[in-house]
Amino acid sequence: MKVVLGADHAGYGLKEKVRKHLEHKDIDVQDFGTYNAESCDYNDSAKKVAEAVASKQADRGILICGTGIGMSIQANKTKGVRAALVHDMFSAKATRLHNDSNVLTMGGRILGEDLAKAIVDVWLETEFSAEDRHKRRVEKIEQ
Ligand code: RB5
Repeated sequence: MKVVLGADHAGYGLKEKVRKHLEHKDIDVQDFGTYNAESCDYNDSAKKVAEAVASKQADRGILICGTGIGMSIQANKTKGVRAALVHDMFSAKATRLHNDSNVLTMGGRILGEDLAKAIVDVWLETEFSAEDRHKRRVEKIEQ
């Protein structure tokens, strides 16, 4: 699985921790920045990550800003992206099962490192449900 990462200045610290966590698990990771804590616009890395996922250059994307909200709004503008803002384990699992989310967004000013890594793990490991009602709803999103 290939995972692309992005963050703004408010998500930079947590993004670094998530990247090291994924590398430690031997997951193929590409980091689209930002690469330091200087102020920048979340839109830019959100677009890069969203386009990589939508074009299937990557299987999944993870985006971190201060709240995860700006990243989710921006990423969901790209057709084919289903970005989910997640701050708990239940939602991480549910959004894979029910929404087939392909981008995870999180708030670097909200989550601690250990919870963020646990959310990433369950989100990456959970497969989309094979149930018809979930497939139908995701197809409606794509239309
Ligand atoms: C940056 O201050 C902050 O607005 C941004 O990281 C994000 O939380 C926006 O949704």
